[in-house]
Amino acid sequence: MSFFVCKECGFGSASWYGKCPDCGKWNTLVERPDFAKSTSSKKKEGLKKISITPLKKIKTQEKTRIKTGIFEFDRVLGGGFVPGEVILLTGEPGIGKSTLILQSLKNIRTLYISGEESGEQVKNRADRLGVNLDNFLFSNDLQVEGIIESAAEMKDQIDIIVIDSIQTIYSKDVEGVSAGITQLKEVTKLLVTFAKKNNFAVILIGHITKEGEIAGPKSLEHFVDCVLNFEGEKVSNYRLIRTSKNRFGGTDEIGIFEMTGRGLKEISNPLVFLEEKRSLEPGKAIVGVAEGKRSLFFEIQTLVVPTVLAFPRRVVKGLDYNKVLLLLAVVRKNLSFPLDRFDIYVNVIGGVSIKGTSADLGLIASLISSFKNIPLPTSSLFIGEVGLLGEIRKTYFEEKILSEGKRLGFKKIYSGKNINSVKTLPSVILRERSDRRI
Ligand code: TYD
Ligand code: MG
Repeated sequence: MSFFVCKECGFGSASWYGKCPDCGKWNTLVERPDFAKSTSSKKKEGLKKISITPLKKIKTQEKTRIKTGIFEFDRVLGGGFVPGEVILLTGEPGIGKSTLILQSLKNIRTLYISGEESGEQVKNRADRLGVNLDNFLFSNDLQVEGIIESAAEMKDQIDIIVIDSIQTIYSKDVEGVSAGITQLKEVTKLLVTFAKKNNFAVILIGHITKEGEIAGPKSLEHFVDCVLNFEGEKVSNYRLIRTSKNRFGGTDEIGIFEMTGRGLKEISNPLVFLEEKRSLEPGKAIVGVAEGKRSLFFEIQTLVVPTVLAFPRRVVKGLDYNKVLLLLAVVRKNLSFPLDRFDIYVNVIGGVSIKGTSADLGLIASLISSFKNIPLPTSSLFIGEVGLLGEIRKTYFEEKILSEGKRLGFKKIYSGKNINSVKTLPSVILRERSDRRI
């Protein structure tokens, strides 16, 4: 019996198709005779019993971490890289991934494989960043088997291998273009096995684009130990690094950087995403959010304008789209604003995204402010989750954000402590009008 496998997505089938039913590409199904054999009748052949060990008897040891010396980065990693760990670092092209890698690995023995830039380009950048290159080895060769073979021979001279980017690497045994899903998965699997066997930390850089072209790197997430995402707006200078998975640390820490003429600079100021001189304008609200063990403050802007369309527009950046729709429904129900006659645009300043629930209250406050065309005082802060029934709930780490907000000089802090429902929010915020110039 024959068996056919798609070169692009790995879809398997007993019959051949011109167009892959899974990924929709044409002429990608090829015959795999070995596949058919393995599913044939000789079931016992090659069978291997599993070995079982009481978990109690397994010896554990605290793995020594390879520290980068960049505090914001080490914290996100959970204290540094762990030998044998595979990290997927994703982000849009041009956001600063290669820069971060060069800066953070400057004291670590590194093999840097680049399919994106020439040695000359990387050296130029390193010179500009003032990175000491004594520990850096470089290659433009992109065949995964070759990389593994060469790195194994140099085992004693390397601690970390960087693949920039995983989309440019190919395996000699896989048909299909590099960056195809099958290639991506295969090279990643080979690199993961290699990293574990030889105790190298391996960083895989993966490009993603804003439009959500994440099918590639996204499909690799379950192979790796740690997934880091580098986010921010190219036009703004601030960058956030977040982890969505970490087998060797927590997933709630973030690192903040500023891109300067001399590379990335660490930022510890929690107000960094707010304007220095905050202006009074309708539609703005400042929210307090917990990110790991630290509190951060962001500005949410909402623009509510009469619509000319049959279906009003909702455009959301930096917050979860469905969450915003849900909160709009809560506002319609509780405040009877005729929102279906208005287009609504929501944005978080700085090109960053807010996770969690504590920005709910601030989003609604900014919406009311825009709808009523009345600015909120620039020294007011909003912290709170909003429930489906319009009630204001306590959020994760609320006390900590509250005290940090007080310390930083916010005069009025709104939360579930002084507002219990969305219903009373307009009267409470609009009362502020008289003393809004504080
Ligand atoms: P890069 O690290 O090449 O991005 P990625 O690897 O994610 O594609 O960063 C490229 C951008 O960063 C580029 O537009 C220039 C800018 N940059 C600075 O502003 N300052 C610097 O010191 C460096 C090295 C880059
Ligand atoms: Mg790059």
